[in-house]
Amino acid sequence: MSDFGIYIHWPFCKSKCPYCDFFSRVRKYIDQDAIVDSYIEDIAFYAQKTGLRSVTSIFFGGGTPSLLSPQNVERLIAAVARNWRLAPDAEISLEANPNTRSNTLFADLRRAGVNRLSLGVQSLDDAELRFLGRTHTAAQAMQSLEDVLKNFDNHSADFIYALPQQSLQGWDRSLRQILGLGLKHLSLYQLTVEENTVFSKKGVRPLNEEEAAQIYLSTEEVLQKGGYRHYEISNYAQPGAECRHNLVYWRGGDYVGIGEGAHGRLRIGGRFFATTHRCRSEELSAAERAEELLLMGLRLREGIDKQRFYRCCGLEFDAFVNAEAVKELVSDGFLTDTPQSLQITPQGLLVSDKIIEELL
Ligand SMILES: C[S@@+](CC[C@H](N)C(=O)[O-])C[C@H]1O[C@@H](n2cnc3c(N)ncnc32)[C@H](O)[C@@H]1O
Ligand code: SF4
Repeated sequence: MSDFGIYIHWPFCKSKCPYCDFFSRVRKYIDQDAIVDSYIEDIAFYAQKTGLRSVTSIFFGGGTPSLLSPQNVERLIAAVARNWRLAPDAEISLEANPNTRSNTLFADLRRAGVNRLSLGVQSLDDAELRFLGRTHTAAQAMQSLEDVLKNFDNHSADFIYALPQQSLQGWDRSLRQILGLGLKHLSLYQLTVEENTVFSKKGVRPLNEEEAAQIYLSTEEVLQKGGYRHYEISNYAQPGAECRHNLVYWRGGDYVGIGEGAHGRLRIGGRFFATTHRCRSEELSAAERAEELLLMGLRLREGIDKQRFYRCCGLEFDAFVNAEAVKELVSDGFLTDTPQSLQITPQGLLVSDKIIEELL
């Protein structure tokens, strides 16, 4: 049976970062226990819908799920284990922000059952952190990283690069420092200026496309030499340390979404459903699901497995995509097409949005 993930969204943050357009709220007081109670009800609801399946990953994402008490994290993991079967090797990840660190937080989360910690570092430079409106310093991020490395065998960190004033040399220095940390997994995002964020209102401009492309290609080279595999547009992993939960999304698997900003995708009785909070679902046509699979699958360096595509949406891949466009994109060096899979090349990754548009 294929991997099956549970995403648990905690939509609260201590403050709103000026670049972030993720669904999140800043609240002085919330009744955390009551919200977790409602999440536990939703877990039972979805378990009834899916029937007994083996859960291979749980991901606490945000917002800032490190604001959840370890007791509540443990309650949620226990609810998943009670309602489905929790695989003995399940990956249980939680995103933490260094601004929520306490002396015992990471040890307590490990004891609660989390076995993979992903830290939102963003930068190891104080001036960059101030520019990004982060409420922690580089020293605090380093302290949190040390705690993570001490308490977890499986770890990841998020960084944002291609900042407006960042030079290739400046980022290269940071990257070597990041490499030295020895994290199993890295998520490196180029800054995007999203509509309706403080950055967009202030007129912040991202780095120009040419420099951003140069910085992206050099990042890949440095990390590959450092032992990381570039397995998704923004994600790098040491061998075997790819994020199992995110691979469920990118490979078109089933996942349940719990929490206000969460969505899910479920195949039930040969039909496809998109779910949103609270316990709402809408049926997707095979073509709608196929389009999503294309969008997700091309993010991966392994590309789209055509047999899996068929299993996930019931449509033949070669008949679904624009065959003329595939031929042209292959001859331009942006795609590699075989009877088994369609993959994006390193040059293709730089213009992936345009490629997807042409394929549909
Ligand atoms: C939903 S956030 C959760 C992490 C956690 N709340 C934190 O900030 O530490 C996931 C990641 O998306 C990235 N991100 C958010 N907005 C971005 C933007 N506009 N450009 C690039 N990366 C962004 C950040 O690296 C962030 O850590
Ligand atoms: S980047 Fe993280 S901490 Fe900042 S607002 Fe977004 S979700 Fe919250």
